[in-house]
Amino acid sequence: MLLSRRRLLALGLAGSSALVLPRSILHGRDRPADRGQDTPGGVPSTRTLGSPPVEPFTRPLIIPPVLEPVATDEATDYYVLTMDQAQVEIIPGTFTTFWGYSSIYPGPTIKARTGRRAVVRHVNNLPESMSIHLHGGHTPPTSDGHPYDLIAPGDSKDYDYPNIQIPAVLWYHDHAVDTTGRHVYMGLAGFYLMTDELEDALPLPTGVNDVPLLIQDRLFNEDGSLNYPLNDETIAAGVLGDRILVNGVIQPFFDVARRKTRFRVVNGSNARRYTLGLSSGDPFIQLGSDGGLLSRPVQRSTIRISPAERVDVVIDFSRYDLGTILILTNQDGAPEPNLTDMMQFRVTRDEPDESVIPEVLRPVVPIPEELAVTTRDFVLEQRLINGRNLWTINARLFDPAYVEATPRLGDVEIWQFINTSYDAHPVHIHDIQWQILDINGVRPPAGEDGWKDTFRVPALGRLRVIGRFENQTGLYVFHCHKLEHEDHAMMAQFEVLPATG
Ligand code: C2O
Ligand code: CU
Ligand code: CU
Repeated sequence: MLLSRRRLLALGLAGSSALVLPRSILHGRDRPADRGQDTPGGVPSTRTLGSPPVEPFTRPLIIPPVLEPVATDEATDYYVLTMDQAQVEIIPGTFTTFWGYSSIYPGPTIKARTGRRAVVRHVNNLPESMSIHLHGGHTPPTSDGHPYDLIAPGDSKDYDYPNIQIPAVLWYHDHAVDTTGRHVYMGLAGFYLMTDELEDALPLPTGVNDVPLLIQDRLFNEDGSLNYPLNDETIAAGVLGDRILVNGVIQPFFDVARRKTRFRVVNGSNARRYTLGLSSGDPFIQLGSDGGLLSRPVQRSTIRISPAERVDVVIDFSRYDLGTILILTNQDGAPEPNLTDMMQFRVTRDEPDESVIPEVLRPVVPIPEELAVTTRDFVLEQRLINGRNLWTINARLFDPAYVEATPRLGDVEIWQFINTSYDAHPVHIHDIQWQILDINGVRPPAGEDGWKDTFRVPALGRLRVIGRFENQTGLYVFHCHKLEHEDHAMMAQFEVLPATG
């Protein structure tokens, strides 16, 4: 038996006071956090049945084009992107109005190299103010897409990315104050893929066999328009779609060769987490996490990916016969086939495969706990504020006049997130990459033990990360990456101060 959130609201039990719920419903198989949404009470079924039907696996996967620089010099590549409204046929026979970088969804892929600067001019042709964040980027504050660092309609801004970091699967997306969720939902997201000499020298799959996958869920109206229901319930739970799009296509198919193929997977969903699996039951070979390659590849038959997390994986299709059809599944999606079957791989051709998965990728040297000068605690909690149940960090909503933490440049710190709610929160910290020390006191599993900038803090759990503040001082944010939580306003600021002399 599970009290729905609506029920709780009716009983006046939602919010912090709901913590008096009997412990039994917080554990065991029917615990809401186990049903895929990390959300108390799940969602009313009327909303999960909203979108018009679409026959799965009828449309091919689209690979976003790679953006060419408009100019280059010795040290820098210069890019221009415009934010525009456009239409695309997502539901057959209808048109969906969306907002896209360069009028496409997902936006064009930017390819960058460690040590080589990129300057991206973003031109805002949309009717609302925007801010662009390079998620996972080690970026000076002036180019980090602070939620109040807005580009007004008609204006533009040059974002300066030094790319002084380990190469990783990054993604750029809107970060405007209070409206990030709707803006990303409307389509404002794209890949930013980095590499360097070391990674280039690894014999991994490349070219057409290196495929970015942006996973997002959406709700559609009958006429094909996007449905973004925002109300107290979705602010609490996050907006959850009933259709899964990969690179902007609902449940696409993708023709692959009998060989190894690399996939850079971004969960770009507003609030939904997935547990990825293959219908064959065979494992993925995970190469990397949010902040770059792991020390060594790890075989995982399922991989959980929360909003804004990334995984870099190889699937070895050489073990299948020509004609084999595999499904990339979301094991949290049952019983809804539209939420379970994410996309289809069709093994349609033979192709030589020179790629090899090396035994060592890029050693991630653990930061010793003894180096930490401070441990900071951040409590994630739902509180009743002005009659509304809102998510807070250390009991506050986002306040641009308040700085929650002031680490010093060069210092190693441990940040501990203490979740008092029965909803998981994917916490994201801007600026630097971290290592997870433990989740509920236990070391992270292989695959989550590399560089991370987004961490799922489990319901009623705690998670500790360790990181070193480097290169840049100034003001950054950290927040829950369930975008409706972030917008309302589960976010805080930290300021990296200069090193003491
Ligand atoms: Cu991807 Cu501050 O967010
Ligand atoms: Cu970020
Ligand atoms: Cu949250």
